[in-house]
Amino acid sequence: RAGLKYFGAATDTPGQRERAPYASAYAQYDEIMWGGEFGQTTPTNGQKWLFAEPEHGTFNFTEGDIVTSKARENGMYLRCHALVWHSQLAPWVESTEWTPEELRQVIVDHITKVAGHWKGQCYAWDVLNEALNEDGTYRESVFYKVLGEEYIKLAFQTAAKVDPGAKLYYNDYNLESPSAKTEGAQRIVKLLRKERIRIDGVGLQAHLIAETPPTLDQHIDAIQGFTKLGVEVALTELDIRLQTPATAENLAMQREAYKNVVGACVQVCGCIGVTIWDFYDPFSWVPSVFPGEGAPLLWFEDFTTHPAYDGVVEAL
Ligand code: XIL
Repeated sequence: RAGLKYFGAATDTPGQRERAPYASAYAQYDEIMWGGEFGQTTPTNGQKWLFAEPEHGTFNFTEGDIVTSKARENGMYLRCHALVWHSQLAPWVESTEWTPEELRQVIVDHITKVAGHWKGQCYAWDVLNEALNEDGTYRESVFYKVLGEEYIKLAFQTAAKVDPGAKLYYNDYNLESPSAKTEGAQRIVKLLRKERIRIDGVGLQAHLIAETPPTLDQHIDAIQGFTKLGVEVALTELDIRLQTPATAENLAMQREAYKNVVGACVQVCGCIGVTIWDFYDPFSWVPSVFPGEGAPLLWFEDFTTHPAYDGVVEAL
């Protein structure tokens, strides 16, 4: 049994939460979030480019600091998220026609200021988020269009310089079973290793579907595909959505799916931790992005736990 360093939950600042049901929920929410149930957290939004550098050269750490300081007060592991990503990017980055030289400077300045602000506090940084298409080719982001693969090297190189103590991760979704996309992520690891640029981990977001999850063996194969390259793995944004309404049947499927994915991480040496993407259904991003789907986390709106909670406990 390999075992985990942490089991955690991401959380948002109150103003950013998807759906705030009623103020009295916050007390109960905070008691679970900070009361010892979780050993790790990730700010779901506050450290993203859109919040951290909304205008060129104007940095704002207010949102990010709220969650990171709670993590520190409570002695929790902190995963930091995310330095370079095509989504929730500040509009100025996309709306300017950059020369390669200018965009290199934009990336270096952003990482230097943002990773520099939280230097020494992050167990890990998601340096690069969602750079791949489903077929394993690179996504045509503004970064890729102007700089090609070079932007990936630059991002990791810069992060390594700025925060030598943080584990540097590539993070993406649909990496939880072997596919062209997992091969693409392995290619990124090899690219950096070949150039002697530090990458320490691959984050499997693990936004899964209760009715059609990968099998335990597929999870294990996918995780081992990365650990055999010498990087660690974490499940970084785990949630398992179902077709609403929740029923005894789909909740049982969800329980099995949680047990398998967490169990795979526990079993593979080098899979070091699991983060669920919030823990309370009303604060999940899922219903707003996937109409007709929801209840993807471990606590229902009334703060009772899903059957999947017991599935997780069994797997740990
Ligand atoms: C989501 C947040 O949970 C939402 O609040 C926000 O509106 C959009 O982003 N992959 C990621 C996360 O890497 O940052 C995303 O988080 C979910 C998908």
